[in-house]
Amino acid sequence: MEYRVSIVEKVQETTRFIREQISFQPKVGVVLGSGLGAFADKVEDPIVIPYAEIPHFPEGNVVGHAGQLVLGSVKGVPVAVMSGRVHYYEGHSMEAVTFPTRVLTGLGVETLLITNAAGTINKDYKPGDLMVITDHINLTGDNPLRGTNDERLGPRFPDMSNAYTTEIQGAWQRSAESLGVELRQGVYVGLAGPSYETPAEIRMLRVVGADAVGMSTVAEVIVASHAGVRVGGLSVVTNYAAGIMDEPLSHEEVTETGKQVRPTLCALLEKTIGEIG
Ligand code: HPA
Repeated sequence: MEYRVSIVEKVQETTRFIREQISFQPKVGVVLGSGLGAFADKVEDPIVIPYAEIPHFPEGNVVGHAGQLVLGSVKGVPVAVMSGRVHYYEGHSMEAVTFPTRVLTGLGVETLLITNAAGTINKDYKPGDLMVITDHINLTGDNPLRGTNDERLGPRFPDMSNAYTTEIQGAWQRSAESLGVELRQGVYVGLAGPSYETPAEIRMLRVVGADAVGMSTVAEVIVASHAGVRVGGLSVVTNYAAGIMDEPLSHEEVTETGKQVRPTLCALLEKTIGEIG
């Protein structure tokens, strides 16, 4: 019982801490995935708060995850950008992994744009592609809403049938068209990690209907959706999933492709924020 109440209190304490440092209300929240932190530099009049200074924020430890909250505006839209996130595979609980998302919703964002690096299961897609997430499959084996539900956060049994709202899917597509960028679309499957999948697991995931695989996002989307926030998800395809090519997977490949896609991803995020904000 105590447990959910204390989450609400922690979120309130953290949002109060952040609000004291800004004079605007963020409308759009952005989560930047592995090696995708460059977009934070596009934020105008930024107020940068390292996660280590934010009460109750978990700290990440994977190389390439900057770990700071950047508040400011993009195309005139007030934003709160999480540059870096913590992952379940680091040993954090689902509660810790989703705490920053709860804080963004607590700050009052109406929309959350979530990005990640992912391996492509769909053989028609290739590294460097950007994929609008139309839906997800949560195979982490856990759920951030497990436990007593506090109705102040959202309903006990939240509907997930339009979690990645068609509205925001359309906004990604319109922005991409106006930039001349081709977008893929598909289902993201989230696993706990940290080992990459085996080729047999990838064959299984293809059968169950997944196009891309990663180790993040699903928990954050469940929490945001629970709170009634519109979600937009975008995967940066950084590699072919295991067994598709006759080569081992490496974290270097993932971060390297992320870097190459950087300008396109930044332009797309900017345009989409302008579109929805
Ligand atoms: N599998 C799981 N997570 C990932 C991958 C992958 O192939 N690429 C980037 N994150």
